[in-house]
Amino acid sequence: MLPTIAAPRRLLRSSLVDLLLGPHGVDRYLELIRPDLTVLDARAEVVAVRRQTPRSVTLTLRPNGAWSGFSAGQFVRVGIEIDGVRRTRTYSPACSEHRAGRAIELTVTEHPDGLVSRHVQQRLHAGAIVHLGPAQGAFLLPRPRPSRLILISGGSGITPVLSMLRTLRDEGHDGEVAFVHYARTAADWLYRAEVREIAVADPSVRVAYVATREGGGRIDKDAVRLLLGGSHPGAAYAGVCGPPGLIEAVRGIWRGASEQVIAETFTPPSRAVSGAAADGTLRFLNSARAAAIGDGTLLEQAEAAGLSPAFGCRMGICHTCTCRKSAGAVRNVLTGELSDEEDEDIQLCVSVPAGDVALEL
Ligand code: FES
Repeated sequence: MLPTIAAPRRLLRSSLVDLLLGPHGVDRYLELIRPDLTVLDARAEVVAVRRQTPRSVTLTLRPNGAWSGFSAGQFVRVGIEIDGVRRTRTYSPACSEHRAGRAIELTVTEHPDGLVSRHVQQRLHAGAIVHLGPAQGAFLLPRPRPSRLILISGGSGITPVLSMLRTLRDEGHDGEVAFVHYARTAADWLYRAEVREIAVADPSVRVAYVATREGGGRIDKDAVRLLLGGSHPGAAYAGVCGPPGLIEAVRGIWRGASEQVIAETFTPPSRAVSGAAADGTLRFLNSARAAAIGDGTLLEQAEAAGLSPAFGCRMGICHTCTCRKSAGAVRNVLTGELSDEEDEDIQLCVSVPAGDVALEL
């Protein structure tokens, strides 16, 4: 029988108790009993590991009471200890926000040079403990729920839109929902059986899975019309998550009705956007280091200089890499915007130097 701390949890969470327990705080004592027993640090136990496709692993996590939950479409920073170092990545739960119990489901797709995704594929096991950040992100279902909705995903972008579909089901949504998923091959399709099961149980849900390298087409107005039973796209709301090309295509189809599109991309910013590297020097003030400007984002250049800045998504979403720039000009590779204010916060993972830069790092 696991120790129960439900009653004194509020007391343990108080800053007075934390203070009285000295520099280590209450969680450092509780984690000696069980690593996920902490009351201030949100953690989760991996309770199941399942392989859906050769390149993906689906995890069921049981968060502790310190984690405050999520809304469908949001993402969560997950910290995983690898060889004594905590690595953080962002993942979107694929389960309903109204699921029974507290468990959440994440699917991690392996990237060939991804340290964390390879670790999850090869070494993460049931019983392991991971760290959780609060749910974040504005990729959310509108309220009131739209009566006609099309959910579109590419690759691992399926998880937040599947969470939306499952959430709508749990809410008894009685409108029409179309669900279309794009992957390179049929072997890469995620959650095929689960989505088909939903469509079989609910005739108002239409489903299409497309293998783009096996003869499946790209998204266009005709494909959307077909999924909407012949209706014009403007008659529906669209929720899309995937690579930038997919999002651009969807925005093009809904041109003139952009307020009916919610979108999120999970693809790192393209190096091509950053253009040629500027000349100058990067100064890392807190660590008294300097380096000539090279290629890549400020996060990559700081790492190349031997620093270990905090990061999560590496694509401008989670803000974990936010750092104070004391001087100099940087360009945001997502927006192209140049910022040259002194003492401003920038996101290292989506900023490139546009000349000499001094960072409080
Ligand atoms: S690491 Fe997430 S915004 Fe930079």
